[in-house]
Amino acid sequence: MLIKNIKLLVGILPQGVTRLSGEDMNRLNTIENAYILLENGLIKEFGQMAQCPDYKGETINAMGKMVFPSFCDSHTHIVFAGSREGEFLDKINGLSYEEIAKRGGGILNSARKLHETSEDELYAQALRRLKMVIGFGTGALEIKSGYGLSTEDELKMLRVIRRLSQTTSATIKATFLGAHAFPQEYKNGREDEYVDLVCNEMLPKVAAEGLADFVDVFCDKGFFTVDQTARILEAAQKYGIRGKIHANELDFSGGVQVGVRYNALSVDHLEASGENEIEALKNSETMPTGLPGCSFFLNLPYAPLKKMINSGLSVALATDYNPGSTPSGNMKMVLSLACIKMRLTPAQAINAATINGAYALGLSHSHGSITAGKVANLFITKEIPSVEYIPYSYTEPIVDTVILKGEIYK
Ligand code: NIG
Ligand code: FE
Repeated sequence: MLIKNIKLLVGILPQGVTRLSGEDMNRLNTIENAYILLENGLIKEFGQMAQCPDYKGETINAMGKMVFPSFCDSHTHIVFAGSREGEFLDKINGLSYEEIAKRGGGILNSARKLHETSEDELYAQALRRLKMVIGFGTGALEIKSGYGLSTEDELKMLRVIRRLSQTTSATIKATFLGAHAFPQEYKNGREDEYVDLVCNEMLPKVAAEGLADFVDVFCDKGFFTVDQTARILEAAQKYGIRGKIHANELDFSGGVQVGVRYNALSVDHLEASGENEIEALKNSETMPTGLPGCSFFLNLPYAPLKKMINSGLSVALATDYNPGSTPSGNMKMVLSLACIKMRLTPAQAINAATINGAYALGLSHSHGSITAGKVANLFITKEIPSVEYIPYSYTEPIVDTVILKGEIYK
């Protein structure tokens, strides 16, 4: 397929760049009046229209439109049952996320619903959400378990994720999040027994079926401690499974430090982060990932991503799409929140949502930029005046055509 007369081709990187850090995050490489040629699901070549090859196959005229690499959403929970707008009302009436969780709401509420929902029904619900987020421009995403909280239901969720990845052309990575919350019967003193269950029963089964690329722990106040997180990361290491940690959402939990200590691929949330967390992340291979949709929905502080970038770090952005803290999977909205609330520039936000998101998915060799040889996951915009217009026009849909693996999706 050839896409020609592209007003602006955005997000070009040389081969071998795995993530952008510090000042480099503010640079977006572009070509005006460009073409891009896709072959066998990959990006074959691109350049200025003056050099456009004479191609006779399927051709799209993108006059007035821009082409971007698809968003890489490195943190989602899109497999869940039903929704939780009842808690939305509780929050409006003044209850905090932790108070709702303490009353058996929150994650345990979703776990109850998931337990009662068949695998087929879960798949159908998640597929609807997946199609929606692909329409928003996402071409690769991570999906977590974590609403099972029993061996059987965690496996059920992971099988649904596997089925989603087998039946769509988006690229999907699966994360085992058995340590998302303590089931009611393990609260009040038996918490470590639940960690035993995660390490000694769930993880071996998940690994034996090859159901997870990563492991996650909700390391935070009222949830899993640093020691419990370390135990789970250590157990996962034996299977060669790296961590992607829910860290520092509710408190300075030590989640960032323990994540870095075990070479987690990413530490996510970071609403409660300061100098110590930034120091811990320097010279590490761990990608700090902001989830501004969660801050927006829960009225939490925003993670200090700008400060992290100014300290020379890389940062990624993801949606956190889930029924409790972020019922939205729209990466464009994430860009807007990152610009408006975190003061990232549009270039920083776009790099965080593409190449650095790909890094946090373990996919930056194949996704996240316009690079010859990478998977041809891209989107063509509607006619828009500038790159900055995308986060600025914060509710206007800007995706015109989605291309996954070199083919038009929709
Ligand atoms: O990333 N913080 C932990 N987990 C989810 C929320 C889960 C829920 O409330 O259902 C999150 O925000
Ligand atoms: Fe999350």
